[in-house]
Amino acid sequence: MNLKVVYGALIIGFSLCGMDKQNPSTQSWDAKKFYKATKQSLPLAKALLDAYPLKLYHSILDLGCGPGSLTAHMAKKAGNQTSVTGIDPSKNMIAFAKGYYQLLNLTFKCKALPQSKNKWDFIFCCNVFPYLPRQQQVDALNVMAQAAVQSKTVPLLLITAAKTNEPGIFDRAYAATLGLERWQKLRSVKLDEYYCPHDVDSFIELAKETPWKVNRCTIEDEYIQFKNVNRLKKFVCSWMSGFAFIAQLPKRERKLLLKDLMNAYVALQAPAPDGSIEWRSARLIVHAEKQKVH
Ligand SMILES: C[S@@+](CC[C@H](N)C(=O)[O-])C[C@H]1O[C@@H](n2cnc3c(N)ncnc32)[C@H](O)[C@@H]1O
Repeated sequence: MNLKVVYGALIIGFSLCGMDKQNPSTQSWDAKKFYKATKQSLPLAKALLDAYPLKLYHSILDLGCGPGSLTAHMAKKAGNQTSVTGIDPSKNMIAFAKGYYQLLNLTFKCKALPQSKNKWDFIFCCNVFPYLPRQQQVDALNVMAQAAVQSKTVPLLLITAAKTNEPGIFDRAYAATLGLERWQKLRSVKLDEYYCPHDVDSFIELAKETPWKVNRCTIEDEYIQFKNVNRLKKFVCSWMSGFAFIAQLPKRERKLLLKDLMNAYVALQAPAPDGSIEWRSARLIVHAEKQKVH
C-alpha cells in the first residue's frame, strides 16, 4: 500500500462527517434503532455532562439532540428550575424524543439551528459535527455563540467523531477500502471542505474563527457492541451515509464505498465466538467557553 493511500484513508477514518451539503433533514433517521444502538455509548457523554453545574443554569440547549437521551439526562440532573431544550431537524428523532421523554422542564423542537430570540447559558452538541462540512461547522459555532447569553461566559460541550487513540482497526478498514482514491477519481472536489476536524489541533484552529475559546480538548475511544455482523453493517451504514464526505457521493458510489468499508472492517475485526462484534471509533471532546462580552 503506498503512502498516499494510507494518508487519505486515515483522514477519512478520522473525519466522520456529513450533514448533506445542504439539508440535514434529508437524512431519514430511524430514531428507535439509533437510540438502541447508541445506548451503550451514552455513559461517556453523561459523565462529561455531570461535570458541569447543570443546576446553576437557567436554560440549556442540546443542539442536534437526536432521540433525546442526553437531553433528558440533563433535564433530570438539572432539575425543574432549569429549562432544557433539544432541537433537531429530523422529524423522526423529535417524534421519538417527545414520545419517550416527558419531563416538566424538557422541550423538544424540530428545527436545525437556534433562533436568535432564544438564549441559552449552557450549550451541548453531541455527534452532530460529523454531519457538517467544515464551513458549516464554523457557521454552527458562530450561531451557537449568538444564541448564548451575552452577559455571561457560556460553556459549550461538544463531542464529535475523531481520530482513534489506538491506531488500529477503524483506520485500517478505511485504508483497505481505498475509498479516497476512488472518490478522488470520481470527483475533483476540495476534500478539506468536507472533513470534520479530526484531531485536537485542527479543532483548536477551527474554533479560532469563532467566539469560542477551547479550554480542554481530548480524544477518547468508544466501543459499541452489536449482536451480529449484519446488525453492525446495517446500523453503521445508515449512520455513516450522512457523513459529509460520504453524503456528497453519487448514490451508487456511496453504497459501494460503505459496503467495502464494512467488509474490510469485519475482515479486520473478527466477531466473537457468540457472533457479536464491536464497532470501534473515537470521540473528540471539546470543552469551550464563549468569551465574556464586556
Ligand atoms: C448521530 S445523531 C446524534 C444525536 C444525539 N446528539 C446523540 O448524541 O445521541 C446526529 C443528529 O444531528 C442532527 N443534525 C444534523 N444536522 C444538524 C444541524 N445542522 N443542526 C442540528 N442538528 C443536526 C441529525 O438530525 C441527528 O439527529
